Amino acid sequence: MLETQGFGHAVAESTYAFGALASDAEHPQRESEVRTLCNSDLCDGIVQTVESWFQAWGLTESQWRIDLEPHFVDETDPEALWQASWRPFRCAGYVIHADFHPREGLPIRPDDIPLTIFAGSAFGTGGHATTRLALKVLTDWCKTDPPTRLLDVGTGSGILAVAAALRGVQEVVGMDPDLQSPPQAARTAEVNGVGAQCQFWRGGYETARGTWPAVMANLVADLLQDGARDLAQLVAPQGKLFAGGILDLHWQPTCDAFASRGLKLEQKLERGRWRAGIWIKS
Ligand SMILES: C[S@@+](CC[C@H](N)C(=O)[O-])C[C@H]1O[C@@H](n2cnc3c(N)ncnc32)[C@H](O)[C@@H]1O
Repeated sequence: MLETQGFGHAVAESTYAFGALASDAEHPQRESEVRTLCNSDLCDGIVQTVESWFQAWGLTESQWRIDLEPHFVDETDPEALWQASWRPFRCAGYVIHADFHPREGLPIRPDDIPLTIFAGSAFGTGGHATTRLALKVLTDWCKTDPPTRLLDVGTGSGILAVAAALRGVQEVVGMDPDLQSPPQAARTAEVNGVGAQCQFWRGGYETARGTWPAVMANLVADLLQDGARDLAQLVAPQGKLFAGGILDLHWQPTCDAFASRGLKLEQKLERGRWRAGIWIKS
């Protein structure tokens, strides 16, 4: 609505199921924020317009509150634009923030694990629904039956590998065919102090060797189905495979491909149209 009324572009709404960090302390009920790139002289107009919508919708003043936080950005600088839109957030017991956010400024709770993402172009800021599902599973695994070794297939930014290492997994390896991924993931491991536990290389799942008690494969359904045989071989007997990045309509064919390779579905997870699952190697 903001965009159609001329209040900027690149309008994005983020919903924080676990509470937006910046708002947690003061406004525990606030769960979403809207960001738009616009000319600074439109700021007052945005607030007035949104207020008029809320009134028209019959919302009472106790039901909403608008906090306007202007950030001045050089629109010709892609990195500045990216930095302006990146906000720290909490997910599955991690406080995820970019390397340009100083840790001192983050309201970290006693049990939180801060996870710094080294900014780069490889996939995986933690904001995507599939990565969030994967992080949740990782936290559950590490709390209930922590693996000593973990393979992260399609590691991207290295977020899952580093998240595992931060929870004490001693040996974590990740690979990705994306040229940007291994250096970015290695840097992410270093800035989080877990460089010695992590190893990354460039390549697809077919380059991985050995068997692993825990495998994360947050890919896409086509890759999971095509790679079902290779992925199944990488999981140790009774080992666990997390596979994510599966749109609802691709869920059943992916399950069928895994079942034909001796992988038994243990748990199905959903977030919007995204599906993911945990399989056990029989
Ligand atoms: C959805 S991203 C996941 C990134 C990160 N692990 C996360 O959970 O946010 C999928 C990654 O798989 C990588 N990928 C593409 N083809 C692959 C293949 N054949 N084998 C392994 N990874 C692949 C992509 O480059 C991409 O970084």
